[in-house]
Amino acid sequence: MIEFIHLKKSFGKPVLVDVNLQVEHGETMVVIGRSGCGKSVLLKHIIGLLKPDEGALMIDGQDVTRLKGTALDEIRKRFGFLFQASALYDSMTVGENVGAGLMIHSVKTEEEINERVRECLRMVGLKGIEELKPAELSGGMRKRVGLARAIAMNPEYILYDEPTTGLDPIMADIINDLILDMKKELAITSIAVTHDMVSAYKIADRIAMIFGGKIIWIGTVDEIDNSGNPYVDQFIHGRAEGPIQMDLLKP
Ligand SMILES: Nc1ncnc2c1ncn2[C@@H]1O[C@H](COP(=O)(O)OP(=O)(O)O)[C@@H](O)[C@H]1O
Ligand SMILES: [Mg+2]
Repeated sequence: MIEFIHLKKSFGKPVLVDVNLQVEHGETMVVIGRSGCGKSVLLKHIIGLLKPDEGALMIDGQDVTRLKGTALDEIRKRFGFLFQASALYDSMTVGENVGAGLMIHSVKTEEEINERVRECLRMVGLKGIEELKPAELSGGMRKRVGLARAIAMNPEYILYDEPTTGLDPIMADIINDLILDMKKELAITSIAVTHDMVSAYKIADRIAMIFGGKIIWIGTVDEIDNSGNPYVDQFIHGRAEGPIQMDLLKP
């Protein structure tokens, strides 16, 4: 289980003010919120890429905000991370990208690593593209390669940062289906952050909305349509009118 407890983070200005959230074993939690509300910041805390100003982040009972060095590496190995911009190494082939974690962290032989890379690429529907370079791929393929890399080390958890943003609706749906497959086949616990409501409805067991640095609502996909929360209603229907006001002067 992953648990955020009174997590607080400022960058000069407050971003996460008081985040409390529990993600249960085996569920897919989708965190929704506007651009710039702190979704990526939230995810980065889980694998220690950012440290909070205050609060704790418990993973199976251990506060990861206090870990560093090898203890933090051990935690990171249990996570797959699909970054917003895929974050592939352009100078490496697709196969090397997918196998990079295995090369560094595992005791597998080269042939075993190649086999695992093949298997992961097959799972995301990209057979036989090991030798291509990231620059030769479309945005959707890059996401899928990023996903293959995220699952290569058999993680217990996958963190998805805007998995469908920037993709056409059909490719977005392919990615959503893959996220559902990962959950089913690998019994994985996931957190996805997104502002894509089509994706949120499709992949989530529960949805949490972040606004003003706090989780202001949490519930199931079935509950969100009748949340009775005006902030949630405005966001999920994409209305300009409502309690969430655009601050047009700020980026
Ligand atoms: N490393 C950083 N240094 C300074 N400000 C940051 C940093 N990371 C994020 N921020 C700021 O925190 C806010 C939330 O960012 P982010 O989590 O990326 O938003 P989003 O919800 O779109 O993912 C933004 O205003 C961003 O500029
Ligand atoms: Mg982001």
